[in-house]
Amino acid sequence: MASLAGKVAVVTGGGSGIGLATATRLAAAGASVAVVDLDGASAERVAGELDGLALQADVGRSDEWPSIVEAVTRRFGGIDLAHLNAGVTTGESDITKVTDEIYARATGVNVDGVFFGVRAVVPAMAARGGGSIVATASLAGLIGFSPDPVYCLTKHAVVGLVRSLGPQLGEQGIVINAVCPSIVDTPLIADMREVLESSGFPLIDVEAVSTVVVELLGGDASGEAMVIQAGREALPFRFARPPGPRAGGTVGQMPPKEFAAHDQA
Ligand SMILES: NC(=O)c1ccc[n+]([C@@H]2O[C@H](COP(=O)([O-])OP(=O)(O)OC[C@H]3O[C@@H](n4cnc5c(N)ncnc54)[C@H](O)[C@@H]3O)[C@@H](O)[C@H]2O)c1
Repeated sequence: MASLAGKVAVVTGGGSGIGLATATRLAAAGASVAVVDLDGASAERVAGELDGLALQADVGRSDEWPSIVEAVTRRFGGIDLAHLNAGVTTGESDITKVTDEIYARATGVNVDGVFFGVRAVVPAMAARGGGSIVATASLAGLIGFSPDPVYCLTKHAVVGLVRSLGPQLGEQGIVINAVCPSIVDTPLIADMREVLESSGFPLIDVEAVSTVVVELLGGDASGEAMVIQAGREALPFRFARPPGPRAGGTVGQMPPKEFAAHDQA
């Protein structure tokens, strides 16, 4: 494992599952770790074990992010790495039964939590000359996933954000990637564990995910969506190019730069 001595990392959802495994791996590589979790007791426990900083916060609330960045900067001097990982499923496959509350919770944690997180940590990283962000998406961010369509929606959003920001954040020395695991053996799937196991569905070990996250955090790749499947090496997903317009020379062409400002007048 490459040394991350002197680096400062923020891990959301660091109190359990994938976030806990990443926080532990980052600390083992020498990083100072801030463990952010809605569950303050879990954050305290994990941070206590890692000599890190525990922060109880709801990542889906934009007003909590300035204090997260301020607390980490006060304790460790800045931010270099962020694993924006906190996430929830809805447990509802029937779209007509997805209440406003269920929808708001899933989009709040999974989408708003990543967007607010990126927006908050980028200036802090830029102030240190660069940084690295990994968002936890899901294989459900790359495929249709009928058991939980709203979860699928949120994870596609994360993948789209990461792919859009990859080239752009590079100008500030910041890389950003997504991990897209299939089903991982964490408390999130505890109620389905027996069903999955008895069906022979191969669960991914949490350490396999944290290994990829920490490699990405220490690497140069950007804008990638890494597929993680049980028993095989992680690989960047290759998106098929959609058909271009039926006009010569425009296949694969992006709109001109000025297009970015088209609706801001
Ligand atoms: N477990 C899987 O099969 C699987 C597969 C693909 C992707 N993922 C994604 O991995 C990420 C981590 O999931 P996990 O499996 O480790 O789950 P987990 O339930 O073990 O951990 C999630 C953590 O996020 C915290 N959290 C929830 N809402 C929060 C909020 N609003 N603010 C701050 N913290 C909050 C929880 O308290 C918990 O500690 C999620 O984004 C999930 O969608 C999980």
